[in-house]
Amino acid sequence: MEVIIKKNYEAISEEAARVVKERLLEKPDLVLGLATGSTPLGLYKELVRMHREEGLSFKKVRTFNLDEYYGLSPDHPQSYHYFMNANLFSQIDIDLANTHIPDGLAKNVGKYCLEYEEKIEKCGGIDLQILGIGRDGHIGFNEPGSSLASRTRIKTLEEQTVKDNSRFFKSIDEVPRYAITTGVGTVMDSKEIILLASGKNKAGIIAKAIEGPVTSQITASILQVHPQVIAILDEEATSSLKRKDYYKFVEEGVKKFKKHV
Ligand code: F6R
Repeated sequence: MEVIIKKNYEAISEEAARVVKERLLEKPDLVLGLATGSTPLGLYKELVRMHREEGLSFKKVRTFNLDEYYGLSPDHPQSYHYFMNANLFSQIDIDLANTHIPDGLAKNVGKYCLEYEEKIEKCGGIDLQILGIGRDGHIGFNEPGSSLASRTRIKTLEEQTVKDNSRFFKSIDEVPRYAITTGVGTVMDSKEIILLASGKNKAGIIAKAIEGPVTSQITASILQVHPQVIAILDEEATSSLKRKDYYKFVEEGVKKFKKHV
C-alpha cells in the first residue's frame, strides 16, 4: 500500500483528482468505482473544475457506485443517486447511460445484485475504485463481520453507521437500516484503489485498517493484501499511524526519484 500524507482535506482531494486525471488520460473509457459521503466531495469538485477549466472529458467513462440505501428512490434527496447527480454527473460531460448505481427500490434483490456484478464484469472490471472509510472500518457498506470474499448484496447497517449518517437526514429515524452494497470481494477485484480519509475522527480506524491485522471486523484492513492501493490521507487522519515518518520518507524518495527519470 502506498501511503500519501497531505496537509489537509483540500490537498488530499487535489491529489486524488490528479491520479484520476492521469488514469483517464491513459484510458478515456476508464471504468471508475465511485463512493459517496463527505470524503469524496472535494475530489468530485476538483474533477468538475478540471472538466471546466482543463477540458478533462468523461464522455467515454463508465462508472459503478459502491452502494445505495435500500428503500430510497433515486429522486430522494438523501439517495446516492441524487448525491451523484448533484455533485458530479450533472456537472461533467458523462453519458448517464454509462453510470450505474444500485437501485434502492430493486424488487428481486438477489437477482438484481447478481446482475450488478455481471454489468461490472461486462465492462471489463473496475479500473480505479474510490473509497472512503466508515468509523467502524467499513468500505462500501461492508460492515464489521462481512465476508472478505463477499459480493454485491443487501446489508444491515451498523448502529454507528446509522448514527454517523443521520447528519444528512432530518432525524435518525429516517436513516435507512439497509443498503445494497458491492462486496469486499467486488472491491478487491478492482485493478487499482484509492482510499481517502480526512479528519481526526478517522485517525483511530485508519491506524487499525493500515497497520493492524487483516480482519473481517475491519473490512478496510483487507486492502493491505491488494497489490495496487494508494491511501491518500490528511495529517489529522494519520495522527495515530505508528509508521508515519516512514511513509513520509518513502514519499520524499519517490518525488526525488521522479525528478531524475
Ligand atoms: C459511501 C460509502 C461509505 C463511506 C463511508 C465514509 O458510498 O461507501 O463507505 O465512504 O461511510 O463516509 P464519509 O465520507 O461521509 O465519512
